[in-house]
Amino acid sequence: MKTVKGFCVFFVLHLCFFDSGMTGKVLVWPMDFSHWMNLKVILEELQVRGHEITILMPSSSFLLDHAKLPFNVEILQISISKESLFEELNAGLYTLSFEVPKLSWWNRQVKMAEMTRDFFLTAKRMCDSAVTNKELLSRLQAAKFDVCIADPLSFCGELVAELLNIPFVYSFRFSDGNVFERLCAGLPMPSSYVPSSTSGLTDNMTFVQRLENWLLYAVNEVIYTYVVFPEWDEYYSKVLGKPTTLCETMGKAEMWLIRTSWDFEFPHPSLPNFEYVGGLHCKPAKPLPKELEEFVQSSGKDGVVLFTLGSMVKNLTEEKANMIASALAQLPQKVVWKYSGKKPETLGDNTRLYEWIPQNDVLGHPQTRAFITHCGTNGIYEAIYHGVPVVGIPLFGDQFDNIARVQAKGAAVQLDLLTMTSSDLLNALKAAINNPSYKENAMKLSRIHHDQPVKPLDRAVFWIEFVMRHKGAKHLRPAAHDLTWYQYHSLDVIGFLLACVAAITFLVTKCGLNTTHYFVSLM
Ligand SMILES: *[C@@H]1O[C@H](CO)[C@@H](O)[C@H](O)[C@H]1NC(C)=O
Ligand SMILES: *[C@@H]1O[C@H](CO)[C@@H](O)[C@H](O)[C@H]1NC(C)=O
Repeated sequence: MKTVKGFCVFFVLHLCFFDSGMTGKVLVWPMDFSHWMNLKVILEELQVRGHEITILMPSSSFLLDHAKLPFNVEILQISISKESLFEELNAGLYTLSFEVPKLSWWNRQVKMAEMTRDFFLTAKRMCDSAVTNKELLSRLQAAKFDVCIADPLSFCGELVAELLNIPFVYSFRFSDGNVFERLCAGLPMPSSYVPSSTSGLTDNMTFVQRLENWLLYAVNEVIYTYVVFPEWDEYYSKVLGKPTTLCETMGKAEMWLIRTSWDFEFPHPSLPNFEYVGGLHCKPAKPLPKELEEFVQSSGKDGVVLFTLGSMVKNLTEEKANMIASALAQLPQKVVWKYSGKKPETLGDNTRLYEWIPQNDVLGHPQTRAFITHCGTNGIYEAIYHGVPVVGIPLFGDQFDNIARVQAKGAAVQLDLLTMTSSDLLNALKAAINNPSYKENAMKLSRIHHDQPVKPLDRAVFWIEFVMRHKGAKHLRPAAHDLTWYQYHSLDVIGFLLACVAAITFLVTKCGLNTTHYFVSLM
């Protein structure tokens, strides 16, 4: 009986996926870290639906481990070891989290410009390895891929797609000052109410904040146009053998799958080739490992607090770790802390340290009362999914924006790692746990997130398959791409009208007396 049933299931799957002419070949230009954790969920779903996935990945990376991947892998040799990559990353993160915030506004922009440029140049190693390997390119060409999935923060995916002449789809969170969205994709984002990425501003800005937002848009536009893009423009032109720019190539993306959604994002204008698929990786909680479950259950009616600063912050200074531990020790709750540094002296009996935590499963546990987080998009979405109040300690990148959004919706308290004291942390936690409005707002967010006609993962997969079926989605492409900047802003039209007004004014003043006379005689 079982085999018959199994056969039927297989047969139906076969009908649905293998014979519908829908399965195809997917090429992936991945991005490391949290981007990869998110993209992997999409790829696994595509694989379940029968598509063949091939990943172009560097010989050294952090989270991408080719030995463990269930996909086809093409390794791109890069001349840097994993250890050196780690060192580069740790130095970069340290500067970003602890040094950049102390700089003056202007110096911060200059430092960010340098760091942004260097960040993208690391992608060049991988890019070189791909586009100069003729043998690899012809092998990929022969494989006839249907679509390429890339991440705009890891340049070159679009270049490879262009070289192979296949449509590409982006999985994307943000760019500094929304530069790629605005300049390359043509997304209208008025600075008056669409806060610039990494600013931590909301959509309700005072005059001074709007001024700051305007400046952030402008400064980032200058940084990208004059510091980041030029060498890439030259590189892309050389590789493609025709004058082009990085931004123009990015603008050819068929779809932009954005890793946020309207449950969380402030409302702003969109385009038909943008799909908001935030939270696509979220899923119901699974049972916890036995030891952890016992610890969580031992918390009784007080419940537990989950604390993690993500996979990128490995350790804190001893002083900071002690400050945090002493605040946690004063809570009646039990605390599950993901921390791999030296055990802080002030660690309380109620707190346990773990090297790794099944974060989604703890967040979905009924005993969980609050989530202390660095505010990465993936973690914040898991908190939204499970309706858990957040105490946010943002460090860099979009983390400030993420906490600003959840805070604006009344489901989070924000702290600053550089200046916070033990009592700040304790008070924030007490508020988030004991003031019922945080839990109510978190549950409201959660209900909105769950109430969607089609789940975000299904929408992401739908659009990738759509692009495969139709060899692109050019009908969604706005004509903004075909205009010059002065046409886009109608500056030529405004100029023409001003010239007309000037001409009329001139004529009127020149023949002023006569006209006055004319009008007087009319009256
Ligand atoms: C915007 O913020 C101001 C002051 O921060 C507040 O008075 C006002 O009510 C807010 N507006 C909305 C629509 O939330
Ligand atoms: C973190 O640990 C590394 C070694 O793993 C060390 O070199 C670094 O100084 C530590 N950073 C801080 C802030 O303690």
